Amino acid sequence: MGYSKYKFNRLFKKVSIVSTLILILFIIFTLTFHGSSKSFDLIVLKNPFQNSISKYTSLFNTILEPKCENFTTYNLDSSNYWQYYGFSHHMQLNEDTLSNILQINQRQEEEISRIHNELINYYLTPKYPAFASLEKSVNGKNLENSRGIVYVSGEDYYWLTILSIKFIRDHMKDRTTPIEIFVPFRDANDHYCNKISMTYDNVKCLYFSDYLSWQQMKKISGYQYKSLALLLTSFNDILYLDSDNIPINNIQEMFEDENYRKTGFVSWPDFWKRSTNYKFYKMSGLSNYANPISTIPSIESGQILINKNSHLKTLLLSYYYNFYGPEYFYPIFSQGFPGEGDKETFYLASRVVNEKSFVITGQTTKSFGYKDKNSKYIGQGILQMNPSNSNKYWFLHVNYPKLNINNLFLNNNYQKNNNIRKWMIIRNAQDDGKGTGFWKKLGIDLEFEIWNLMIEILTVDFKGFKIFKEIGNDEICDYVKEHVKKLQNSKLNLI
Ligand SMILES: *[C@@H]1O[C@H](CO)[C@@H](O)[C@H](O)[C@H]1NC(C)=O
Repeated sequence: MGYSKYKFNRLFKKVSIVSTLILILFIIFTLTFHGSSKSFDLIVLKNPFQNSISKYTSLFNTILEPKCENFTTYNLDSSNYWQYYGFSHHMQLNEDTLSNILQINQRQEEEISRIHNELINYYLTPKYPAFASLEKSVNGKNLENSRGIVYVSGEDYYWLTILSIKFIRDHMKDRTTPIEIFVPFRDANDHYCNKISMTYDNVKCLYFSDYLSWQQMKKISGYQYKSLALLLTSFNDILYLDSDNIPINNIQEMFEDENYRKTGFVSWPDFWKRSTNYKFYKMSGLSNYANPISTIPSIESGQILINKNSHLKTLLLSYYYNFYGPEYFYPIFSQGFPGEGDKETFYLASRVVNEKSFVITGQTTKSFGYKDKNSKYIGQGILQMNPSNSNKYWFLHVNYPKLNINNLFLNNNYQKNNNIRKWMIIRNAQDDGKGTGFWKKLGIDLEFEIWNLMIEILTVDFKGFKIFKEIGNDEICDYVKEHVKKLQNSKLNLI
């Protein structure tokens, strides 16, 4: 027994060494195979813009990489200067302060100027072959049939995207406006987007990893996906929406808006004043326009209306700005103001390349929310208006907190909080005592309507498809139903 046990142990050791080796070889093989199958996709999938955009991506990575330190040093404490658009504040945002919150040294100024020179005079002109070919494919498209909505989604955003699409398709009864959802990586185990496209009419899924190499994908994340989606979409008239944004107006009417038709590009304002570093105007050739631009509110880019045909340069330059956003352009554009990110990249790009733009100005942007039991106002999101009629609202950007019901219910605060209704008041971000009733102003109880839609999503549309990792559809739907019942019961109080 002793002998054979010893032999067995030796045999076992041998086997385990061999099997470990096999396992290692297998891992190496699958990784390599996986990698090459990805680049294979690149050849198989055709997108008329893909080649040029891939060339631009390589250009940005090499010749146009900023060769100066990134922007991380602040001379002044930015938060002392935060102020709402349309209100006065004791700290002035004039040329002096705006040039000096973020530190920009001589070397950086020269480098950012060089880059703008090269872009404006060559890379964003037909002299550059990738631009000429991109322009040709964009112009070759049929404008009439090419209006649609673009989302960027994935993982934690899928549920919000579903809710936004459900509202468009079932509440607004718009079954035809085509929708493209961009997802960063094609993943054989992620059936989510497919499921969305099978559930609702005219929804298509696209994956950035089908269009860019792994090398290029590595450099791109978060905010940068948005400008890439705007470049890769097949639509000419694009309504871009953040996943937490619910359009509450007819979409085709938006594309017909007179200010959009006139300019081909509409941006919506944020609560805040513009805080772009004044030196940017000089570095980008906008010195003569510094004054009007610096007085325009900062931008909220949760929704964008843009025409690709007339605004190709804007889209390319904003892709560049986002490519080097976190280290370079986000700080230059916002100087540490709230919401720093991609928000200014589209509008400022349009100014630099001199393509038309329309921004709603002279109006304060409205927040919506409720008062808690201590009469403290708790904002829930941003209401964005019709660009040609400030009395009508187009978008409900439910951004804080987002309607991720798994988080809302599973951390328990939502049920305990005795304010059932959260969408009660519309007011300026800065309290001026001029709030109005949410329900009354919009003429519809959107809070009830939107929560009620969730029941159908969970029990009918996605029946048998697990939406949330941590909880089943039926289980979370019990929470939703209970909440909807409370909303229903509190309806009378609103009148
Ligand atoms: C800026 O550069 C420094 C030094 O190279 C680096 O450590 C830092 O992470 C960079 N900052 C950002 C925001 O990328």
